[in-house]
Amino acid sequence: MQLPLDRSSERPLREQITAALRERIESGELAAGARLPSSRELADRLHVNRTTVVDCFQDLRAAGLLETGVGRGTFVAERGATRTLRVRGPALKRGAAKAARNGAAARGGDAAAAPDFVWARWLAHARPLPRVHAPGAAGAEARIPLSRAVGHPDLFPVDRITDALDRAFAHDGQRLLDYPSPAGFEPLRDALRARFQRQGVATDRNEIVIVNGSQQGLDLVARLLLADGGTVVTSRPSFSGALDVFRWHRAALVGLPYDTEGFEPAPLDRALGGGGARLIYAIPDRHNPTGLTLSEAGRERLMAAARLHGAAILEDDWLAELSDPGEPAPLKARDTTDQVIYLGTFSKVLAPGLRIGWLLVPKVLFEPLLALKKTCDNGTNLPAQAVVHELLASGSLDEHVKGLRKQFESRRARVDAAIDVHFPKEARPRRPHSGMVAWIDLPRGSDVNRIVAEASRAGVEITAGAPFDPAGGALDGFRLSYATAAESDLEPALARLGRVLKSVLHGAGAATAPPLV
Ligand SMILES: Cc1ncc(COP(=O)(O)O)c(C=O)c1O
Repeated sequence: MQLPLDRSSERPLREQITAALRERIESGELAAGARLPSSRELADRLHVNRTTVVDCFQDLRAAGLLETGVGRGTFVAERGATRTLRVRGPALKRGAAKAARNGAAARGGDAAAAPDFVWARWLAHARPLPRVHAPGAAGAEARIPLSRAVGHPDLFPVDRITDALDRAFAHDGQRLLDYPSPAGFEPLRDALRARFQRQGVATDRNEIVIVNGSQQGLDLVARLLLADGGTVVTSRPSFSGALDVFRWHRAALVGLPYDTEGFEPAPLDRALGGGGARLIYAIPDRHNPTGLTLSEAGRERLMAAARLHGAAILEDDWLAELSDPGEPAPLKARDTTDQVIYLGTFSKVLAPGLRIGWLLVPKVLFEPLLALKKTCDNGTNLPAQAVVHELLASGSLDEHVKGLRKQFESRRARVDAAIDVHFPKEARPRRPHSGMVAWIDLPRGSDVNRIVAEASRAGVEITAGAPFDPAGGALDGFRLSYATAAESDLEPALARLGRVLKSVLHGAGAATAPPLV
């Protein structure tokens, strides 16, 4: 099977392949029941990465156009309603039979005349969506989660949040049950403004928008600036949740090598030159997924490049509360030309269930963002905003964060020590890292998926590099998150992971050891 791919196009290959396959299925060229080549075969034929084809198959499965049988391969789904089924007597078309099962049979003879409604026809127009792992997969609780970038539930300050909620309702109950302003709860915006000022970021209240988690901030910025695509430059690897958003908005992604000194200057200039890129997505502090923090000089260089080429920067400061005064100031504090959009969240230092994040934007973006925010959700949950405000105003958040910093630092030290003892020398983290994640580089061509699968069999969950690749391919590495597991589980989990790594990388050893939990 050959599909026409335009490699010079800004349209991602995944989208091109999905669209071409969809067209062949819808035109009948690929008939219902036709078997597709395996993802490996098709990837070889098209000279693309296998994960790209796997993702295309997944998109088409989600659209109801393909079906996969375990061990049988991938087939074009039966979408036409030509087969007849017998349901409670009358012979019905397949779609009508489905409707009958949904209750139409109760209407007797009418069911036979019901239209053949197939959601897949509409879903076929959906934009490519990322794979979402269903929560609560079998045995998930029994595993050691080194895959999620969020604190252990014991680190969620339940008592502080309960007190804050009580105080907020006692003080302002009726107001908190009204519609929120799309910009957010004013006392919270004021408290944030004071905080930004302490970080050296001068701001006006009319530059702050409270969002439903910083994930919504990413989406709103993309809606505003990437409505017709465009190019986003970011690190390789970069945060998968942001890449998903940019892809959904059909932006082209350019992933550049990145370390504590920032992007390599020549590739950055090439990517930004000639007005090539609209936006730089950067995570200068405790980068996800590497944990690296950008040096002072690296920050200056990045700002200079953005100024020179007229590119906007989206600075994602996902762990802003963990910053120490001695650390380099955020890019936003150096933003003399108003080119930086600054994004943050309380998910990591408080609790992700609150869904409270913030955007600090140049004034000219404020009104358009409010209009978008209102269009999307009419504003962010007001009681949750009031809780965060109470915690900020009372100093309770600062006390909590003091303890959290110690927790994360003690975990980081344990993880680094355990890696040095247990991992083979070819599997090394990028250093110095801090926050809640580390990135383990592996030799070129390592079978990362096998490492992830074997680790899972041994009871340890890690995340393969692929979701963090802006190029949509695979990366020779994986992310290790050390905030979610119980601290006492870290050393034994890494010992187990070390054995898996030795077994896969050296082809020997003890991956057959019994699971840890
Ligand atoms: C770098 C980064 N940005 C943004 C987010 C989104 O977080 P939330 O939507 O919970 O605020 C995450 C979550 O892991 C993240 O790691």
